Amino acid sequence: MKVLVIGGGGREHAIVWKLAQSPKVGELLCAPGNAGISKLARCIDVDAEDVEAVTALAAQETPDLVVIGPEVPLAKGLTDRIEAKGIRVFGPNAKCAQLEASKSFTKAFLARHGIPTAGYREFTDKDELKANIGLFGFPMVLKADGLAAGKGVVLAEDARAAEKAIEEMMGDRVFGAAGDRVVVEECLRGVEASVLCFVDGSAIVPMESAQDYKRIFDHDEGPNTGGMGTYSPSLVFDEALEQQIAERILRPTFEGFRADGLDFKGVLFIGLMITDEGPKVIEFNNRFGDPETQSVLRRLDTDILDIFLAVTENRLSEQEIKWNDDRAVCVVMAAGGYPGAYDKGKVISGLDDVDEDVIVFHAGTKFGAGGETLTAGGRVLGVTAVGATHDEARKKAYDNVKKISFEGAQYRTDIGIVYQD
Ligand SMILES: Nc1ncnc2c1ncn2[C@@H]1O[C@H](COP(=O)(O)OP(=O)(O)OP(=O)(O)O)[C@@H](O)[C@H]1O
Ligand SMILES: [Mg+2]
Repeated sequence: MKVLVIGGGGREHAIVWKLAQSPKVGELLCAPGNAGISKLARCIDVDAEDVEAVTALAAQETPDLVVIGPEVPLAKGLTDRIEAKGIRVFGPNAKCAQLEASKSFTKAFLARHGIPTAGYREFTDKDELKANIGLFGFPMVLKADGLAAGKGVVLAEDARAAEKAIEEMMGDRVFGAAGDRVVVEECLRGVEASVLCFVDGSAIVPMESAQDYKRIFDHDEGPNTGGMGTYSPSLVFDEALEQQIAERILRPTFEGFRADGLDFKGVLFIGLMITDEGPKVIEFNNRFGDPETQSVLRRLDTDILDIFLAVTENRLSEQEIKWNDDRAVCVVMAAGGYPGAYDKGKVISGLDDVDEDVIVFHAGTKFGAGGETLTAGGRVLGVTAVGATHDEARKKAYDNVKKISFEGAQYRTDIGIVYQD
């Protein structure tokens, strides 16, 4: 089979790496891909967010399956466009993609189906919102409704910070139309965890749990990032919690999709706060998480192509999905300055020195003129190790991170350590 993967980050490298193991995959393509992906797939330099160009590429290459990694093309309706060409797609259609692309859509969905989440109110008028500063107390959780590359949520500590955030979102429109509607939420307390699920019309199937680390510095300090590391399985989960999540969140979500005519086919990423009252939904994303995918897919034994095909054919309920008992840890190496302005084009050395069973997923890399691997993004690499125990995987990941270097490289030293709030 011929498979085309859309995207060019660490998540897509992990998906391509897993697909490359399938005996049924004959030809593997990726647009745009990166230096690491190019060793496993033919990379085509087409911007993943350019829906016209990607649709034209799919029409030209006529793959048997297209797998869409990032949220922006999903929200722009890339799935619908490619399916209209008669090509099957793993990834939700534009209607379902609102579950990530609109906070307001998701809050209404959760409320309508009685799924536990923070109380909320939404605003489209700046002055009305300003008159409600302190609603639900502080910190005041303010969310731009639309996609904002992970930067659209502010937890304002006081009235001044709230006023500033409101001015930026609704006055200066720093997120464009995404901030014309703002959702204000009750602030939840607890430990955060995420659950990734495969979903189609026949079933919702959680993958193995994973924990991610969003802040740039150790001890969860400094600004938010796309994610600085992850490990799987999560140490926060136990059987009782998994049971609660299945009953209170997964089942009503699946039934809600049916009731609302949401024909979801792909990955639903559920961000949770584990509160004293049980798990509550913080957000939905509608694609594989990055970097959660890097650690989770290292533990998947089943051929991922079979799962993708089952989802596109609404056969997920019959599909066997096997995970191994390994522990996985992924440490992200980022460019100096990230998540602010950062350098690109730094030579990466040591990539060939890592242990054989450690996989370095490339997040932002490209080849230089002389064939050397250069940094090309904020998050550069995801060094991913597995072991029989959590500590062994952790040690192996860090031992190998130390073998790799590029100017300005930064990484957290505490990936895999659990903080209780
Ligand atoms: N109601 C809440 N109470 C407490 N913290 C919250 C709440 N909502 C969001 N947060 C915090 O803000 C973070 C970002 O929120 P959310 O996941 O809704 O935004 P996002 O921009 O869609 O994130 P992502 O980039 O992970 O998709 C959460 O991971 C959580 O730490
Ligand atoms: Mg989100």
